[in-house]
Amino acid sequence: QKGGYRFFMEKEIYEQYEVMSDTMIGRVLDNEISFEEIDENFLDGISRIKLCACGTSYHAALVSSYLFERLSKLPVQVEIASEFRYKEPLLTKDTLFIVISQSGETADTLEALKMAKHAGLKTLAICNVDNSSIVRLADTTILTRAGIEKGVASTKAFATQVMVLWMLSLYFGKRCGVLEDSQINKELDAIGHVPTVLKNALDIHEKCKRLSKRYLHGHGFFFIGRDIFYPLALEGALKLKEISYLHAEGYPAGEMKHGPIALADAELFTIALMPKTLLYDKTKSNVEELSARDSTILAISPEIFDLADDFILTHNHNHPMLEFFEMMVVEQLLAMEIAIRLGNDVDMPRNLAKSVTVE
Ligand code: M6R
Repeated sequence: QKGGYRFFMEKEIYEQYEVMSDTMIGRVLDNEISFEEIDENFLDGISRIKLCACGTSYHAALVSSYLFERLSKLPVQVEIASEFRYKEPLLTKDTLFIVISQSGETADTLEALKMAKHAGLKTLAICNVDNSSIVRLADTTILTRAGIEKGVASTKAFATQVMVLWMLSLYFGKRCGVLEDSQINKELDAIGHVPTVLKNALDIHEKCKRLSKRYLHGHGFFFIGRDIFYPLALEGALKLKEISYLHAEGYPAGEMKHGPIALADAELFTIALMPKTLLYDKTKSNVEELSARDSTILAISPEIFDLADDFILTHNHNHPMLEFFEMMVVEQLLAMEIAIRLGNDVDMPRNLAKSVTVE
């Protein structure tokens, strides 16, 4: 069943480029994005978006908050479902309420969706499991088509959620008439390259295996990045902690000097997401500060960075989302190799279940 892979997680990382094509099929056309799930009047009366989810799906929501504001020009708020439920949220009917869930059964996300429906909001689910509770309840669903995900650590589900959200932000931008044709074409071109990027990113697997030897000790990990690479940093830290049981935190790179840098010394490993197409110099100066305090730096970047102790050289891309997807694969492989080296069962980590159906 594992098809020659050591773990389902490994198989699912390797499947990502194929399932991504399924996610895109019928939705990415020559010069536009199309969703047959969404009817003509879907955006009537909508002037804002609220996204709600848990765990990795919450990180996908955070990524999309940058994309929706950039491409659709709609204000976005992102909520952790377990917080949203009890904060007495103010809900207005001009809000499109989007829930994101791999399983479609996460208790907090399902309850949040019920609250939004009760308040009369238009609701959209982005989900991997057809006919799940969330799918049955939402007004409309876009399925991510990742196929069955068995590893507790979400990989291909996250990748396809981000892709659906990116396509959706472009689709909304076109529908709202806020995008130039040239911008739409640039996004479409990048979207078309994602499966190849996911496939080529696997070349880095051996390097991750080798590096995993060095990154087992120390008192913790910082994953840092800016913009969409900040939620990717959160996701990298979550992946590592849930399967390796090592302490890892994700931060916006610019937050270091507001507290976290106090932890920096040689035993602190910094995994720096340093894309070339987005705020490279800003991120670099944050990493330099950590290096000056002796943190051990693993830079993930297409650009050689002299101060890095270790390096994962990514490919050059002309769009931040392509750098995003490649770095996502690197984080997944690195977390998996570290966990395997520690002797852990990466598919069934301790204390965790694939689907969290209780509060
Ligand atoms: O099925 P869901 O997407 O609603 O699940 C949400 C989280 O429980 C899930 O993403 C969890 O954080 C993963 N194990 C992370 O890899």
